Amino acid sequence: MSSPFRKATSMGELEVEKHANYILSVEKKKDDFESVVMEHLRINGAYWGLTTLDLLGKIDEVNSEEVVSWVMKCQHESDIAGLQNDDGSFSGDMWGEVDTRFSYIAICSLALLHHLNKINVDKAVKYIVSCKNLDGGFGCTPGAESHAGQIFCCVGALAITGSLHHIDKNLLGWWLCERQVKSGGLNGRPEKLPDVCYSWWVLSSLIIIDRVHWIDKEKLVKYILDCQDKEKGGISDRPDDAVDVFHTYFGVAGLSLLEYPGLKAIDPAYALPVDVVNRIFFGR
Ligand code: FPP
Ligand code: ZN
Repeated sequence: MSSPFRKATSMGELEVEKHANYILSVEKKKDDFESVVMEHLRINGAYWGLTTLDLLGKIDEVNSEEVVSWVMKCQHESDIAGLQNDDGSFSGDMWGEVDTRFSYIAICSLALLHHLNKINVDKAVKYIVSCKNLDGGFGCTPGAESHAGQIFCCVGALAITGSLHHIDKNLLGWWLCERQVKSGGLNGRPEKLPDVCYSWWVLSSLIIIDRVHWIDKEKLVKYILDCQDKEKGGISDRPDDAVDVFHTYFGVAGLSLLEYPGLKAIDPAYALPVDVVNRIFFGR
């Protein structure tokens, strides 16, 4: 079997060992005050941390049985398909908030579970298309402002359901590549500051619509590398800010999309390592 890692001619300046140790140290601190008040985000934290370790080639540092048993404890008796509304949208939970983030999460999860047939996919796609704006982007609900995070959700969901023909690729590609600012970083909307996490939301969307050559990749690599804490590990939103697991994941995932050497390749629509996606869909 061929290696899922890109040939590491040189690891350049990415502090692989330090970032892996940073993620592992956060995992060990899960009972401290910050973790308790952030409890509702912990399953996200597990996804960000574990995927970062996998992309860095360090997934064997975690005890998979422990992780699986902890994740299973988080399962609730309600399920995803029951959260689809009559107009095809999805609510996040029993309290009913509707947002295209939830459409993406529902479609991506059910596809990974081979259960897309449990929802009305045509209606789900129709709702996402109703959130498309005149600038080619997408918002969280119909008429809401285009935002790169929501664009990833909508473009990813349309890619997974084979519905990319609903996108004007040149118009959206233009809006997305305009997110690159002087420093090389990407912002999420016009006039906002650059932020490492938009390396993921913008870049994954540009790759899916085949317009990634419209940004300066080298400048973006440099911006992400400039956001590392080179002493303690971890990546922040902007150079010299405090690091966190969220931006560490999106920095490493962005570098993977940019084909940084030594990292595993990541799938832009499923936001999981390509070898994991292949195992799920092709059993190899
Ligand atoms: C920006 O949020 C990001 C989004 C709106 C997208 C969130 C996407 C998901 C939850 C789907 C799951 C994602 C993956 C990778 C599997 P923000 O509130 O930080 O925006 P701001 O920068 O405008 O404050
Ligand atoms: Zn951010």
